Amino acid sequence: MISAPPATVMTLSSKPHIAMNTHEELRAVWHELGLSPALLESADVSSRSPIDGQTLAHVARPRDVDVDEAVSRSYRAFLAWREVPAPQRGELVRRLAQMLRTHKAALGRVVSLEVGKITSEGLGEVQEMIDICDFAVGLSRQLHGLTIASERPDHRMMEQWHPLGPVGVITAFNFPVAVWSWNAALALVCGNSVLWKPSEKASLCAVAVHGLWLRCVQHYIGQTRCSPEHAQMLHDLCLLVPGDSRAGDALARHPRVALVSATGSTRMGRAVAPAVAQRFGRCLLELGGNNAVIVTETADLDLAVRAIVFGAVGTAGQRCTTTRRLLVHASQHAQLVQRLIKAYGSLRIGDPREDGVLMGPLIDEAAAASMQRALVQAQAQGGTVLYGGQRLSPGTGASANPLSVIPTGGVYVSPALVDMPGQTPIVCEETFAPILYVMRWHSLREALELHNAVAQGLSSAIFTQDLIEAETFLSATGSDCGIANVNLGTSGAEIGGAFGGDKDSGGGRESGSDAWRQYMRRTTNTINRGRSLPLAQGVSFDV
Ligand code: UN1
Repeated sequence: MISAPPATVMTLSSKPHIAMNTHEELRAVWHELGLSPALLESADVSSRSPIDGQTLAHVARPRDVDVDEAVSRSYRAFLAWREVPAPQRGELVRRLAQMLRTHKAALGRVVSLEVGKITSEGLGEVQEMIDICDFAVGLSRQLHGLTIASERPDHRMMEQWHPLGPVGVITAFNFPVAVWSWNAALALVCGNSVLWKPSEKASLCAVAVHGLWLRCVQHYIGQTRCSPEHAQMLHDLCLLVPGDSRAGDALARHPRVALVSATGSTRMGRAVAPAVAQRFGRCLLELGGNNAVIVTETADLDLAVRAIVFGAVGTAGQRCTTTRRLLVHASQHAQLVQRLIKAYGSLRIGDPREDGVLMGPLIDEAAAASMQRALVQAQAQGGTVLYGGQRLSPGTGASANPLSVIPTGGVYVSPALVDMPGQTPIVCEETFAPILYVMRWHSLREALELHNAVAQGLSSAIFTQDLIEAETFLSATGSDCGIANVNLGTSGAEIGGAFGGDKDSGGGRESGSDAWRQYMRRTTNTINRGRSLPLAQGVSFDV
């Protein structure tokens, strides 16, 4: 356990002040959330803040057998919950949204403390939860199927959507609260129960969200004065299944878990998908990205620079939608690179709770090591580091970035901009760190070939003022990603659209549009209101 002294943090703009250390601040925020302090001292897994390396809390990790028990409870809850009318199911999700609105600031802070997001991004994540809850509440009155013309006289065909079963949700550290809500809000209104296996690097966020959910459930039980059986069912609707990859594996293999929605690396997806397929379960995979921005001759560079910097550096390059490749028309290369270097040089890096800081720490030492390895390989493959890539040492105005204010105990780096002679093997890999590889092209066809030549297919963007270029990028022969944008960056999607990508990005679609259908089972029903039994396709079979 690391118990560093309180960190002294200086801001450049204001007078020096002592920021509360992360351990103390967590306790204050926990109190604001109305959660029991006992939850912070449960058991053996320690949660560390990447801001200063301090231990924030000890979070419970159940033994392997608990997954089985959790699935049984979840399944029992599902059997009762599926009978509750969908709009009433929506009412519980509406209350969750209300709870999240009330506690947006405090929960956003837990996100910042545990995974190092800047304040605005921590708040944005909670906003994303509120948005999907609102969406799901509306959806709870719109889970409708088609009626279909029958070829047989006096027959009618229709589709119904029924609840599916327990949904296993496996989440990553980088969106430690929002991704659960994309899945849980939809799963709940669709009549399913939810089992959540959070990243071990973000267990505390999961405990906080689960605690707020249970508070909603308690209020609801108190107000509706339901039976003890119904109350037990509500308690078991959303369960936490913390643990390492063995907990995820147990969910993937369990025949009672109807859908496994997993967010993480492509490697993780390759382990989960066959395990679920083996038992013909359903999978929703949201895996790695290697997202590119294409900048054409006609691009508005003011827009492009802002979008590229947010996409490449936001969340310290640790989003699955992070911009990792920049494909720039040769005529724009020199100017764009120069402007990016200037923008990178003006970024404040440091304690993500400080005003004006735009990039916080990496999640851990392993992330910094993989960033360094990638940079070494990029240079061996002919690349030139144009900016950054250094480990920043504690203190104000650290050498590599004069604006930075680096706390002791965290892993801070300067974002790297690397010019590449072509799309070499390292460029084709997703390194979960702020490295942006720059490559040039001469024709849009060449740009699109480069763009689609990587294994991943999550998010993409083009900057152009030319309608033909924009439409080509969006067409069947354009970007092969699940998300393709014009004149905005690759990250920061809204919840209203279906989110996800193809190829090594997993093929799943979460959150908006018609993603809800994956959380339900479809039945096709044909009803005969006549007195005869005509057979389809004109088949005669007289008995
Ligand atoms: C992720 O990184 O796993 O589009 C999800 C975005 C966010 C979601 C990212 N709304 O960047």
